[in-house]
Amino acid sequence: MLDRAFSARRTQPHSVFDVSTSSDVPSIPESPALLADESKTKKPHLYVLATNYISRLGLAKSPCLCLSLCLLFSVFLLFSLMLNSRSFVCLSPYEPVSRASFFGLDGLDSDFGSLGVPWCRSKQGKTVEWTSKDLVKGLEDFVPIYETRPIKNNMYGMGFDHSFGLWFIARWLQPDLMIESGAFKGHSTWVLRQAMPDTPIISVTPRHPEKYLQKGPAYVDGNCTYFAGKDFVDFGHVDWEKVLKKRGISDFSRILVFFDDHQNELKRLKQALKAGFNHLVFEDNYDTGTGDHYSLRQICDQFYIRGGGHSCFKDSDEARIRSKRKKFWEKAVDTDELCGAHEAWWGVRGEMRDNFNHNNTQISYDEHFQNSRFVESILDVYWELPPAAGPSLTHQTRYDPARAPTPIVEDGQYRMFQQLGLDRLERSVFNGYTQMAYLQISKPES
Ligand SMILES: C[S@@+](CC[C@H](N)C(=O)[O-])C[C@H]1O[C@@H](n2cnc3c(N)ncnc32)[C@H](O)[C@@H]1O
Repeated sequence: MLDRAFSARRTQPHSVFDVSTSSDVPSIPESPALLADESKTKKPHLYVLATNYISRLGLAKSPCLCLSLCLLFSVFLLFSLMLNSRSFVCLSPYEPVSRASFFGLDGLDSDFGSLGVPWCRSKQGKTVEWTSKDLVKGLEDFVPIYETRPIKNNMYGMGFDHSFGLWFIARWLQPDLMIESGAFKGHSTWVLRQAMPDTPIISVTPRHPEKYLQKGPAYVDGNCTYFAGKDFVDFGHVDWEKVLKKRGISDFSRILVFFDDHQNELKRLKQALKAGFNHLVFEDNYDTGTGDHYSLRQICDQFYIRGGGHSCFKDSDEARIRSKRKKFWEKAVDTDELCGAHEAWWGVRGEMRDNFNHNNTQISYDEHFQNSRFVESILDVYWELPPAAGPSLTHQTRYDPARAPTPIVEDGQYRMFQQLGLDRLERSVFNGYTQMAYLQISKPES
């Protein structure tokens, strides 16, 4: 399974997304309608539309009317200028992009990746085999599956983007066993089951999902072994060799491990490496300055990464852009939030967080840098799931696109969004994107 999933063809980070540019729209071969997306064509300029409208009304022949219209237009322009001032701006949570660009607020449109997208470097520069076309095809298949989910409102658990990512990765890798750490009501267990109907699952989670059934929807899987309740043992303390030997599994390279337990990801990475696992998915891959645990993205956010090594200088360009974006995107962080004492910007204000923000340790930049060197030494593949669709389509207002890779369905591709069935989903399901990451790891090269 897993060998075919990777290749060393592309050596640049983000290469999977590079093919998804405006000139190369991802398409589904089986769905020709998706190939032509007219909604992506350039929109005519406002004044062209106005001129067309005036000439259609025959107003050009009446100078008085024309003058009045000009006056009206000037008043309108004046209002727009006033609204441009920050104190006047009041955006509807559902219209962040369209209104921002309408009033010409520089840099507040989607601008994917404009503040940099930290990327973990892998040993050989290998990346995943799947392309943006595979992701589009995957979306087409997954939307109807997602619509049948038993837990409709999975607040505090995965939303649409990450459910799709986990399903896609599991289905692509075709593992012999799936392990999850952090199940909550069981939505992620259900997603794994949809990807692999007959593959056994081991779920490690303090509270058994069946407990949630008493209060509402939850999912308990028939082919899943739960290390939960009184049988709960933290992933790092499970004797995996013994557990898997009992199940007759000796090839750890055919196991997929999924973490959604809000633990320090460096700790989890070391535990997974020690146990001999290769294929890992981290659900909450928080951006620098955010979240309740030290994430891969934070670890890899380094001076040599584009958009890394942040400036804590309040008059810097970065500070100016961040404070503007903060007003429009809930999860955007401004310089005050990004930087702790002594200009510590790494992790969360210099903290390496763990266990839902309960066990935090202040670390030096040197330690942070050493952590990234360690990660790089064991990393064969690093890939971040892009958002399913741009915010003008999903109406999400949480993650800041300036720190995210280009979405699978880009802003403006409304027809594709519709044809994939994404417009049928409630808006709230697009709010949970936090850069889910897939990793392939192996022992450091000697
Ligand atoms: C965000 S929820 C998981 C959401 C779930 N994966 C979903 O998609 O619906 C985090 C879960 O991690 C569990 N948890 C807390 N500490 C844990 C640990 N040490 N190991 C595994 N799970 C843990 C919590 O009880 C909670 O169920």
